[in-house]
Amino acid sequence: MSHVPAGEAAACHLPSPHSQPFCLGAWAVPRFGARSLPSCSLPPCTGPAEMLLLQPIVRGPWVLQRTPRLAAVACGSHPRACVGWTPPRTHGTWSAGGSSRRWKVTAVGALLGLGAGLAYGDHRRQAEEADPKAAARPQAPYPVFTRQEVGRHRSPAERVWVTYGGEVFDITDFVELHPGGPSKILLAAGGALEPFWAMYAVHSQGHVLEILREYKVGELSPEEQSQPAQGDPYAGDPPRHPALKVNSLKPFNAEPPAELLSENYLTPSPLFFKRNHLPVPAVDPATYRLEVEGPGGRTLTLSLPELKSRFPKHEVTATLQCAGNRRSEMNSVRPVKGLEWGIAAISTARWGGARLRDVLTQAGYGEAEEEAGERHVCFEGLDKDLSGAAYGASIPYGKAMGPGGDVLLAYEMNGEELPRDHGYPLRVVVPGVVGARNVKWLGRVSVSREESPSHWQQNDYKGFSPSVDWATVDYTTAPAIQELPIQSAITDPPPGATVPPTEITVKGYAWSGGGRGVVRVDVSLDGGRTWHVAEMAGEEQPLGRAWAWRLWQLTAPVPPGSSALDIVCKAVDDSYNVQPDTVEPIWNLRGVLSNAWHRVRVSVAQD
Ligand code: MTE
Repeated sequence: MSHVPAGEAAACHLPSPHSQPFCLGAWAVPRFGARSLPSCSLPPCTGPAEMLLLQPIVRGPWVLQRTPRLAAVACGSHPRACVGWTPPRTHGTWSAGGSSRRWKVTAVGALLGLGAGLAYGDHRRQAEEADPKAAARPQAPYPVFTRQEVGRHRSPAERVWVTYGGEVFDITDFVELHPGGPSKILLAAGGALEPFWAMYAVHSQGHVLEILREYKVGELSPEEQSQPAQGDPYAGDPPRHPALKVNSLKPFNAEPPAELLSENYLTPSPLFFKRNHLPVPAVDPATYRLEVEGPGGRTLTLSLPELKSRFPKHEVTATLQCAGNRRSEMNSVRPVKGLEWGIAAISTARWGGARLRDVLTQAGYGEAEEEAGERHVCFEGLDKDLSGAAYGASIPYGKAMGPGGDVLLAYEMNGEELPRDHGYPLRVVVPGVVGARNVKWLGRVSVSREESPSHWQQNDYKGFSPSVDWATVDYTTAPAIQELPIQSAITDPPPGATVPPTEITVKGYAWSGGGRGVVRVDVSLDGGRTWHVAEMAGEEQPLGRAWAWRLWQLTAPVPPGSSALDIVCKAVDDSYNVQPDTVEPIWNLRGVLSNAWHRVRVSVAQD
């Protein structure tokens, strides 16, 4: 039910301190100004928490003040003036910078999905002690309801009921708290949760059920308890290579072991990193049609054979990198939200297909559209969430139509038809641009004055200052990530390895976005005090169109007497962009664009 990509949600962890009662960081936050805040009666939390900013809820003498945005904060930095449930007050506004602003209170530390965190339950219990309605809630033995009766409770006005197994829950009070947003949880209103939880596997955690149980109001009549078996929406996903390191199974997100990454210039397709937000759609190539919305509302519809025969085949070797590659390093500085990618959410393939510009030209587009202000080419995938929203993204019109853009509608990967995980039968390959814009299972292309309205274009895959947290983030203020910055990492030896005392060979990759070639990779064995220049392998690529990575290697003597080495690498691209030396100054709440010097500490074998 989460609007947040389920895979991302799956990676959110609430550290152990949160299983104790603590202040959830529910505090009155004047978004743009100072205000004196009530003080907290609970100890402040010390770890991260997903936070909700929602409309105030009044329960008896308590008010939980909130706004409807999901937010997560690093609680360590939150003000001491935090409160869980505060005594009621007038729901006031105040002026700051001339505009009136609502009270904003962050509440509910939790995981995504229903995962509002056990500690939330403590607050809720506190609130309910003072809430006469809570006392009136049914206790065992519970009343028995039919599915039809449950089905009458589909909106907050008529109360929102759901079932799970043989139990009935009144989740009305949770609707606004749902980290994925009220609209998503309301999809389940009046019915069973199972189909939704099957789609967003983040809900399959013990504590989520525990929270749900707090809302129990009844049981299903025994004859109605057996649910028709729910199909697993991921049951049709393709088989995967066992060597992949799985970050989340449903949806499937995995990266190859780092050591294997630098073994091949072209990553074998089974080992290519996989980043799915939803189940892999089953597309019948015989009935598949790509829809290209032309100027004036005309639609060009192309079958797969038409795409292959009507447009010249173009091939490009290009590296794809997920915006979250190396997120785990940011996470170890300060918690971020997202899958715990290591250094291998990046891979390279030879892609083959029709040029996007040829197809758009056939659909009727030309320079006039750019001049007329039609500036974005939007893509929609055939993978849809439970509300029917497709995965989508867009790229600038100039990138799509420029002769040097090399944007493909690819039907081949490494000389074979696209594997299902990588977008079969057709995907966009946007060389030099963040993976998220390389839309798989492509269903529709359109040209618009606006960027794609997709969640993944508007409210994700953007970078922010380290000072921005989930209480203050405003996605409208940052541009969508397109070209990625210079990147490099050490693939071998792995961290913690023991290396010979004589000589060491270090391997890795380096790549930059926007077609900027890598001109040099510097490697240090002593934490950055002294440097060696690595040898680079890989295809020479045209200036401005260096879409693929360079693999590099350094063999150097181990300084005599060393017991450990701090290996560091950093790359330089042809615009002389360099990687930042540490993570802290580029930390951002979503853990994207993580490209600091890569550091690997190893031990030296003693003779
Ligand atoms: N396209 C669709 N339709 N659905 C998706 O979930 N994920 C995007 C992009 N295209 C995605 C998609 C993201 S975030 C990335 S990083 C790349 O696909 C990953 O491509 P890959 O799985 O082929 O490595």
